[in-house]
Amino acid sequence: MNIIEHPRPLRAQTRQWRRNQKSIALVPTMGHLHDGHLALVEHAKTQADHVIVSIFVNPLQFDNATDLKSYPSSIASDLQQLSSLGVDAIFKPTVDLLYPLGLELAPKIHIPLLGDEFCGAHRPGHFDGVATIVSKLFNLIEPDIAVFGRKDYQQLLIIQRLVSELNFNIQIKALDTVRTGDGLALSSRNAHLSTEERELACMLYATLKDVAEQAEQHQLTDNLPALLDQAITRLSQASFKVEYLDLRDANDLQAIQAGTTQAIVLAAVQLGKVRLIDNILFKLADRT
Ligand code: PAJ
Repeated sequence: MNIIEHPRPLRAQTRQWRRNQKSIALVPTMGHLHDGHLALVEHAKTQADHVIVSIFVNPLQFDNATDLKSYPSSIASDLQQLSSLGVDAIFKPTVDLLYPLGLELAPKIHIPLLGDEFCGAHRPGHFDGVATIVSKLFNLIEPDIAVFGRKDYQQLLIIQRLVSELNFNIQIKALDTVRTGDGLALSSRNAHLSTEERELACMLYATLKDVAEQAEQHQLTDNLPALLDQAITRLSQASFKVEYLDLRDANDLQAIQAGTTQAIVLAAVQLGKVRLIDNILFKLADRT
């Protein structure tokens, strides 16, 4: 497994693969890998001749210095897991290499509307940071395919928009959220949950599932705000701080319309010091 820090050897490697007519899949990550990341890597392996995983805790997407500082890292075990999966190359640059002028002077990509609500509203600048780093990785690696998780659903839509609007010639593949047995979405941040918080954390998924089931059953003829209010109250009473919990059209995260067939219930909460996000996609019958 080729571990690369600098853009120049990275380009030399990808150029060599392309010269040999080989396709390349990229899996961007911030490290501290879990089975959700590994599922993306396994999928990438079935989609291309060579797989590159990037590991980079991107400071541009953190709106909070403490959050950035405490982001978990476990590079030795990450590399070991990726090597046993047969990954061809790791790209793990330093901040200075990717942002030579510093974060302030780095040009930033903003995706209007899609990036402004939900996580975009609660973490100002977050999606500009994501769109910027993903564009940089796409330009540096020029993969044929890039694989992302539906766990970060708003991020996934933003990346799809980025690819179509900035004309990247890259196919985006999306994979379902990998969960623990009790439903908690795997996340690098789960490492910071205390034992009690970890036990409680699965309530987020259970609550979203209830909302999705009720909305699906009643085709939203019942009062949607009341359904959402109940869910927020239930979580708040169990000591979650709810940033948002909403039900939207999954295609664009806009309000459900009569013609909406693919819906999403999505939420972000704080549990103690840990921020958790999750979502459930479900179908609605066409009500036009
Ligand atoms: P990170 O949180 O490390 O996630 C890397 C990829 O793994 C993302 O596509 C994310 O959606 C996916 N992922 C995370 N948890 C998952 C789970 N439980 N099941 C399936 N997939 C999961 O997302 C980022 O990093 C960054 O924003 C990044 C795109 C790398 C840009 O910096």
